[in-house]
Amino acid sequence: MYLPQEIIRKKRDKIELSREEIQFLIQSYASGSVPDYQMAAFAMAVVLNGMSDIETAHLLTAMIQSGDRMDWSPLRKRSIPCVDKHSTGGVGDKTSLVILPLLVADGLAVPMVAGRGLGHTGGTVDKLESIPGFMAQPNAEQFRSWMLARGGAFGAQTDRFVPADKKLYALRDVTSTVESIPLITASIMSKKLAEDLDALVLDVKFGSGAFLQSMDSAEQLARSLVNAGKISGCRVEAALTNMDEPLGRSAGHACEVTECLDILQGAGAPDTRELSLQLAARAAVLGHQDKSADAHQRAYMRMKNHLQSGRAYEVFLDIATQQGAHLSALERSNTEWIDAGVVDVPVFAQDKIRQQIHSIETRALGLLLIEMGAGRLKKEDSIDHKVGLIHMKKVGEWVESGEPLCFLRLRKNDVRADKFQAVACKSFVLSPEKATQEPAPLIAKWIQ
Ligand code: URA
Repeated sequence: MYLPQEIIRKKRDKIELSREEIQFLIQSYASGSVPDYQMAAFAMAVVLNGMSDIETAHLLTAMIQSGDRMDWSPLRKRSIPCVDKHSTGGVGDKTSLVILPLLVADGLAVPMVAGRGLGHTGGTVDKLESIPGFMAQPNAEQFRSWMLARGGAFGAQTDRFVPADKKLYALRDVTSTVESIPLITASIMSKKLAEDLDALVLDVKFGSGAFLQSMDSAEQLARSLVNAGKISGCRVEAALTNMDEPLGRSAGHACEVTECLDILQGAGAPDTRELSLQLAARAAVLGHQDKSADAHQRAYMRMKNHLQSGRAYEVFLDIATQQGAHLSALERSNTEWIDAGVVDVPVFAQDKIRQQIHSIETRALGLLLIEMGAGRLKKEDSIDHKVGLIHMKKVGEWVESGEPLCFLRLRKNDVRADKFQAVACKSFVLSPEKATQEPAPLIAKWIQ
């Protein structure tokens, strides 16, 4: 028997914790005998003092063992490998909704357990729940039957599947305890390793909208994630990707779903489309164990074809309706669930001259979204799926005099529009001079 306050004190005083102490704390938190306030103190001590590699490994194991593990042997008997993609989190980061159907269209199975909003970033589960009828937090039996029937399903942490991450994730969201390599590693990899995967692609963000902004710290995180996967026998690769500006032109739940539906129907934001294709191609190479020299290029062409032929869109509709989504909501002509009750307010630059966007303070836009109602201030809060930022200009684009930088999608009765407009305006760094540097590439590096 250990005392939670003693474990917190040791972490506070930079004393290494044993496997038993970490196991005790995580099991006690998952079962409810350690309360949120003690776990929040522990998480803050980890953010401030870090964890050794061995402590991180114990934390990861304890989080996996807090619940059940999936078992996809029935799929493997049918020679279907199980793969997934997970991102460390960003603003407007919506590729999961495109990647899952791409991979299923490619003959792979994808048991995608995602998260809700975290810190200043949005979460896949919240995005999916903006679709009328969508059940994004199925129980284990539902999830399994959907997977076996369709080869793909979206899910979330539950009281039986990584319950420790379910609780700790929600707690970290509102206690400023996200930015920590050991906590992110244990959170992401507990979900992914409990998913029983053959292969995994990680999208590790760096830049002003990422949790770890410098490329160096993002690379450290990527290596920590990849090592955790390798030790467990899962084939893992990580891409370091640019989060210096929001991904795509929309951020906010329903707005992002529509951007993904556009991509699945052959249009949509080029950066989101390209990143989805690249990450899906990599996951397909790892999943099919294609070792040929041009494996990535061939997988990329197949992914493009799954989009162009409409096959990935069909798969998305099939999986979404299996999960309860109202098919009528996913038709382009039905915008009622997206725009009823909201108003789009333009955000203009202060100077009425032609200017170029040199950079975007992406984290500030993420925090603005929380204030607008798209994120949680407290664990218990419900969120507004409809509010968001749309038609956002991208870094390097020119804005003509009188042309909006973006639009705020707000509730019609929200009286804070002026304040929000000012914050959004300040987040776009503009100049009448042409930037001397080209915007950084979307994928900076692969870690294998
Ligand atoms: N995604 C997760 O699942 N957990 C984190 O801590 C960060 C991103």
